Order: sequence, then C-alpha cells, then structure tokens
Amino acid sequence: MSLIHEIDHGTPPSPAEETVALFVDGAPVSVPAGTSVMRAAALAGVQLPRLCSTESLEAFGSCRLCLVEIAGRPGTPASCTTPVAAGMAVTTQSARLAKLRRGVMELYISDHPLDCLTCSANGDCELQDMAGAVGLREVRYAPGASHLDAKLDESNPYFTYDPSKCIVCSRCVRACAEVQGTFALTIEGRGFASRVSAGMAEPFLASECVSCGACVQACPTATLMEKSVIEIGQPEHSVLTTCGYCGVGCTFEAEMRGNQVVRMTPARQGKANRGHSCVKGRFAWGYATHRDRVLRPLVREKLTDPWREVGWDEAIARVASEFRRIQASYGRGAIGGITSSRCTNEETYLVQKLVRAGFGNNNVDTCARVCHSPTGYGLKTTFGTSAGTQDFDSVDHSDVIVVIGANPTDGHPVFASRMKRRLRAGARLIVIDPRRIDLVRMPHVEAAHHLQLRPGTNVAVLTALAHVIVTEGLVNEAFVRERCDLDEFADWAAFAAEERNAPEAVERISGVPAEELRRAARLYATGGNGAIYYGLGVTEHSQGTTAVMAIANLAMATGNIGRPGVGVNPLRGQNNVQGACDMGSFPHEFSGYRHVSDDAARSVFETLWGVALEREPGLRIPNMIDEALAGSFKGLYIQGEDLVQSDPDTKHVVAGLEAMECVVVQDLFLNETANFAHVFLPGSSFLEKDGTFTNAERRINRVRRVMPPRAGLADWEVTVAIAEAMGVPMRYAHPSEIMDEVARTTPTFAGVSYAKLDALGSVQWPCNEKAPEGTPVMHRDGFVRGRGRFIVTEYVPTDERTGPRFPLLLTSGRVLSQYNVGAQTRRTANMTWHREDVLEIHPHDAEERGIREGDRVRLSSRVGATTLCARVTERVAPGVVYTTFHHPLTQTNVVTTQYSDWATNCPEYKVTAVQVAPSAGPSEWQLEYGELAESHGHVARRADAPE
Ligand code: SF4
Ligand code: SF4
Ligand code: SF4
Ligand code: FES
Repeated sequence: MSLIHEIDHGTPPSPAEETVALFVDGAPVSVPAGTSVMRAAALAGVQLPRLCSTESLEAFGSCRLCLVEIAGRPGTPASCTTPVAAGMAVTTQSARLAKLRRGVMELYISDHPLDCLTCSANGDCELQDMAGAVGLREVRYAPGASHLDAKLDESNPYFTYDPSKCIVCSRCVRACAEVQGTFALTIEGRGFASRVSAGMAEPFLASECVSCGACVQACPTATLMEKSVIEIGQPEHSVLTTCGYCGVGCTFEAEMRGNQVVRMTPARQGKANRGHSCVKGRFAWGYATHRDRVLRPLVREKLTDPWREVGWDEAIARVASEFRRIQASYGRGAIGGITSSRCTNEETYLVQKLVRAGFGNNNVDTCARVCHSPTGYGLKTTFGTSAGTQDFDSVDHSDVIVVIGANPTDGHPVFASRMKRRLRAGARLIVIDPRRIDLVRMPHVEAAHHLQLRPGTNVAVLTALAHVIVTEGLVNEAFVRERCDLDEFADWAAFAAEERNAPEAVERISGVPAEELRRAARLYATGGNGAIYYGLGVTEHSQGTTAVMAIANLAMATGNIGRPGVGVNPLRGQNNVQGACDMGSFPHEFSGYRHVSDDAARSVFETLWGVALEREPGLRIPNMIDEALAGSFKGLYIQGEDLVQSDPDTKHVVAGLEAMECVVVQDLFLNETANFAHVFLPGSSFLEKDGTFTNAERRINRVRRVMPPRAGLADWEVTVAIAEAMGVPMRYAHPSEIMDEVARTTPTFAGVSYAKLDALGSVQWPCNEKAPEGTPVMHRDGFVRGRGRFIVTEYVPTDERTGPRFPLLLTSGRVLSQYNVGAQTRRTANMTWHREDVLEIHPHDAEERGIREGDRVRLSSRVGATTLCARVTERVAPGVVYTTFHHPLTQTNVVTTQYSDWATNCPEYKVTAVQVAPSAGPSEWQLEYGELAESHGHVARRADAPE
C-alpha cells in the first residue's frame, strides 16, 4: 500500500520574538513587540493605576484610570490597550493625568457605598487601593441617582453578588468568557443602567454558572465575594499547596487565619492551572473540618460489635498482632495492602514498602487497578513509558483535538477551560463518546465530528480510523520509518487495511456513520498537530488496554508524537493516580515500573531495606477478594479507598471483605468499606499533609501542610508505626526523606528533591541527570523503549451482551460538582448541585417503559439492582443509559459486573447490560445492605442523611 504523504505536520516553531525599545518617564526599556504600554511601564518599575485590567485577562480599556501621555500623540490614551512602538516616549505622571484620574475615581466613588470599615473586602479592595493611589480626598457630587439599593444575590452557596458595589469594569464577564469559557455573564443595559447579569438576568444559581469562582477572583471590589471571607474575615497568611481532588493538580494559595482556611485561591504560578480552578478545588474544602471526621482510632472484635475508641498505640499494636497472627496461621501471602490515589507519593511509597518488606509478599494494589491500569500497560508496551506524553501547555499548539471516552468539562474542568480556549482560537475537535458531552456543543465551541458510538466498541472505531489513514495514504511514512518497528508496522497496516475494519463494516458494530468516521480520520491525520485526550471511557472496558494501544497506533501512524501540540494524553481521575502507579503500587512492579522479577531492580531495594524480597507478582484487588472467598486471604490494610462503593459487583466485594479476619481501613470518614473493618485508623486530609502529588502531566507538585493533622498523626506516620510494630524499621524525620529514598531507588525520579521542587515550583518526570529540570514532552527524539511498537488491535466484543431481559447498555461517569465516591464532596455545599445519582435515559426508551422525568426507576443487571431517579434526555442515544456512582444510597456498582480488561483486570464499568423499569421501592440489595450497614454499626451519621 502507498505511504505517500503530503500532510501538514503541525505548526512550525515561532520565530524569535521581536523587541521594541521605548522610554517610560525618561527611562529606556525594551519589551517584546505587541506589549502594552502598561506592561512596559511595569517592566520599567512604574505601576500605573488600573481597575478594569488584570494580568490574566485581555485588555479592555473601560475604566480610564490608566491614562498616560505619549509624546507626539494627542490626548491621553489608555495604557492597557495601547501597544508599544519603537522610540515611544511615555509620561505616566503629570498634573493633567493626576486630575483626570482623580475625576474618574470620583465618579466611581460617588456611586459606591462608603462602608469600607465594615466591608468584607476592607484591606483587599482594588477600588480602595486605587482611590488612595490617585489621591482622591473628597467627592464633590451631591447624592443623586445611584445603585446603592441594588438587590444582593446570595443564591450561590459559595459567593455573594452585591451589585451596589459594582463598578461595571467587566472583569467578571471577561473572566467567565476568557478564563473559564462558560459565558454565563453579560453586561446588561447601557450607560448608567448597565449592570452585570448572570444568565437571562437570573440569580447566579439558576444561570449556566458552574461556580468556578474566576469572576470572584477577578472582581476588584467586594461585589463578588466569597461567603467564607464574609464569615471569617480577611486571611492573615497563606501556604502554597496542591488541590486534593482531580488529576489536573491545580496549585492553590491556602489563605488562612490561624489554622482556619479562609479561602483557596488558585495560584498563577501553578503550571497545571495557571491561576484557574474549578468549584471543587476553590470551594469544596469544608469536608476537612466536617463533623463526620473520625479523629480517634476505633477497634472491634467482630463486625457486629460496636466500635470502641482507643489510643493510637493500642490500635497500631492490634493491627500488627492481627497481621502477624494471620500470617502465622495462614501463611505469608494471607495479607496485603491497598494504596490510595488520594494519598501522597510518599504515603503510597511507604504502604508498598510495608507490604513488600514487612508483609514479605507483593500483595499490594491501588485503585488505579479500577481506572487507568490499561494506560500503564498499553503505553508502556507501545512507547516504553506508563504515562501521558505531554504537558497541559501543549494543547495551546494543537490544531486537531480528539477527546475519546472523557468528559473534561466535568472530570478535568481546569484543563477543559484551557482546551476550550484553544478551540475558540480555531483548533478543530473530534469527540468520540456514547454521550453527547458538553464539549460537543457549547458556547463558542462545536465539535467538527461527534462519533456517538455504542458502548464497548472503542477498539472497532479506533481501528476503523486507522483503516482510513492506512488505505487513503495518510500515514506519516517518514516518522514511521525513522521511529517505529517496521515489521510490526507492516503487520498492523495490513491488518488495519482489511475490509472488516473499514468504516462501512464498523458502522454496523458501532452505530457510527461510515462517512463521519472517514471524515474524522482525515481531519486527525491531515489537520496539523493532532492531540488525543482520553479517559476512563477508554480504559474501563474488557478491551481497555487494546483501546489504549489503538490510540498509540494512531498517534504513531500520523507522526503525532514528540513535540508540543500532539501526543497521547490520559486524563487521570484522582489527584495522585499517576503518582500511586509511579510509586510501585502494583503487585508486579517496584517504583518506576520495574518488574519485581527484575533482579537488578530487586537488589536495589533488598540492599537498602535489608530484606529478601519476593520475585513473584502478588495479588491484584479482584484476586484478593476471590482468595478471601476461597479462604486463603485473611487480612487487608486499605489506605484511603472505599472498595465497597468504588469497585464493581458490590455484593462480591462485600462477601470477600466479610470473609477476612482483619480489615484495617484508614480514611477521613467511616466509609462504606469501614462497615466491614475491624480497625479504623483516622486519616488526614490534603490540608494536613506534607508531600507530593503527581498529576496527569507527570508533574510532581508539592503538597504543604496548612493545618496540623487533626487526629494527631499524618498518614505516613501511621504506616511507619505499623511497620515498626511489625518489626520493620522505617526511620524518616520528614516526608522529604521518603522522597530522597524514592530518588535513590528510582531512575526516573533520580533528580527529584523537595529543594528542587521548592525552587522550580514543580517538575515533570523523568527528572534525572539527562533531564535535571524534568521532561515536559516525552519521546522527542525517539521512544523511551527504542522503536515504537504498532500492536494489532483485533476487536473482540465484550461477553456482556444485551438481550430480551437486559436490552439497554449502562455506562457511567462523574459530574463536575461531585468527586469519585463522594466522601469529600457530599460533605460540602456541592450537594446543592447533585444530591443524588440520577439515571439518564433517552425519551424513546423512557416512553416505552412509561417513565417520566423525575420518576424513581429500578435499574437491574444480571448481578444486582438498585433504584434511582430518571432524567429523560437526548444526551444519551436510544439503547444507552448513564449514571454516576457518587452516592452510597444508590450503590450503582451493585449492577456492574466482574468482566474486566484482559491485560490488567480493570473492571468493565462502562458496559453493563441492564433493564430499567418503574420502581416499586428499594431494591433487594438496598434493603439487605441497609440492614448490613445497620448491624455493622456506622457510628457517625451519614453525610447525605437528612439533618
Ligand atoms: S463562577 Fe465561573 S462560571 Fe460562574 S459566573 Fe463566575 S466565572 Fe462564570
Ligand atoms: S462584579 Fe466586580 S468584576 Fe464584575 S463588573 Fe462589577 S466590579 Fe467589575
Ligand atoms: S480541576 Fe481538579 S485539581 Fe483543579 S481545582 Fe478542580 S478538582 Fe482541583
Ligand atoms: S486599566 Fe486601562 S482602561 Fe482600565
């Protein structure tokens, strides 16, 4: 076949920036062409007064406070909107300018409540600062028409809108448009009547606003103000740290009064978020001090006994003695541990060390098992590294963006805002998803193609895209020849070209129109820099790993690897899922993805830890449950996970846990898994931690303690205590020493230290001698494994089939306001937006079943049933239903099956054959589980129970 290639390979690097020399108040300054006079003045050390302009927004030129004089030009232009010119002589201070600025300010102040002393923004108000800066001493205007009686909007749970303080600078409107990309705000009316309006002149809560808070941060007055600041007062100090929610890894200033958080402000120096945030990171931190936090260790003999509060020493001694007893009775392999993607790198490293060195086996696994384990396997096989290829900045250089099996506006909102900005600037978008996610069509963004495939057919669709690329001569021959294994390429290309992989054949399997598929393939292959972003809609399938490899094939075939703007980018779910995998949480790998049978790697740890280590891989989570039911696995240490709610086939998980003799749960709250625990160890929230999280870009970010651990011990100290009690020495004075050990033992982390992270802000691994400041874009000059591997991706339909009893396909996901099993977000005002899991169902399917919007319905599969409310919507196609798993009262996973990815056992959450019918009350399992939870004694009230 032809490999002829005449394709745009993407944007060439920009030429060196041109600079312009000018004078500001007589001082020479050189700045890049296009810089504003205001910015040039700042670089020359002159701060001009301003109200409508900020560093993070495009200049607007409305407040007229930043006026300057420019030699040879008439009038007093606004410096924020005037670009520099060569030889320009700018005057920033003169009697005329001072008078004009005072006049402008006087007009603002004449229509402003002069309540500075009692205003919540007192001391942090730009209007107040600017009035001082321009020397305003009196207001000469008599009281007249004003906005001072304008009505306060307190509808949003996190911030207020007080129009009486608004100066109509439009910063909020522009922040919502430019930074967040939601376009919820407008300036309504003209002249004196103009005012900020949310949605169709609605309260904020009723509008399209997604509560990201960008407008609040941009507002120079107290018009938009955090309720926490109003309640607590202005912060006194701040600590730079990293969000504890999703894999974007936003950097925040935790602004504090004593040990109390006043607000979380996204930091501009954060390289993942560049000063932006979503509703979770900025506002949903109240769970850290929620009354449900368990602050004393708890123990009990039997699951039906009430919990007994004990001191740390007794609890730790109990864990150690129980684990040693079990090993003495049932063998060394009868216990294991589960690390958490919510904990720091240092904490997860210690848990796997405890298991390998202390338990003497490799029975350690992580919740990445149930989300991105196929990413690790797939990308390691094809490229040589178990991680995404790019940094987030890369998207600014993309020309074609493919989003498959991900819903970034809900799951990775800050990155989604970045992506939307690039799309508004002209990049084209291809969405491959069974659901019409928001990105398909939203203000100023519209997908060029939405391939609305049937759940479970990713591999067929991806291979059909490859078919078009191969058979229409769109392969980047030079890239393939230079960078990839040619024999494997030839095998793959021959396979992809087969007629059974043609879009026309795949249309019958996937439901995607062949012509749409062909057009999408051509766009990706020929549209310039092509970047693929994917999520759990790719991995959580019986062919999850195959789909990851199919994505890698597409990127290699089109040469979309190894430079900004391209790449293969898994969007990681939890804050530290990348880090948990990096730190050796899988039963077959040490930190840095080295197999436990690798003698050289094993000897590094054996020498350092002073013990012989097991060379056979240990048990994965599903195997632990199976072995527990078989009677050979009896004890489990679970740090920061809720298996009962998050893992598939809830009944099976519950039975496995009940079969164990010592289950130890370490968490913030008594979660669902704690119903089946014998020891509960209080965990610490991200605000109480010192350590690092690694985000979806491989970026290692510092997490800094902003308040002491509320239960007295940090999570890493608890693991150390268990290890010491089991006779395994672990001596660390600070988490930085744990990272030092990671650096000593792990080649890709060899150059990482807290000193470097503090100096650079963050680094992306690999960070070592070859890349001392980290690696933003991988595989630049060649693949890490050598030559890139094309893998034949045969489509194998899942064994989970629809039929007369279960005719619909259930797929699942998350919503913006909730996070994972909801343990944190359900304990915040984010409940305002999502109080319960709902089932999306297409109008045709609903009508056939006599179901109306809001009805309670029974959702049943071959393994279980639950009940929840129906939402009738065309976001899902006929034959497909969708829900979330944020609420334990629903227990969505009681219906998901044990089918899993062939390579990694990642569960097939995204494809379950189900039936939906009007509900006649709670399902059998809901009743049974309710009784179990009752008898297994939750001592704390449930967060989602009525007050
Ligand atoms: S909170 Fe965010 S989405 Fe809502 S209006 Fe402000 S900027 Fe827009
Ligand atoms: S609400 Fe704040 S940011 Fe928006 S126009 Fe009014 S003063 Fe400016
Ligand atoms: S996008 Fe993710 S990391 Fe950033 S604030 Fe939101 S939840 Fe936190
Ligand atoms: S800051 Fe320049 S016009 Fe407002």
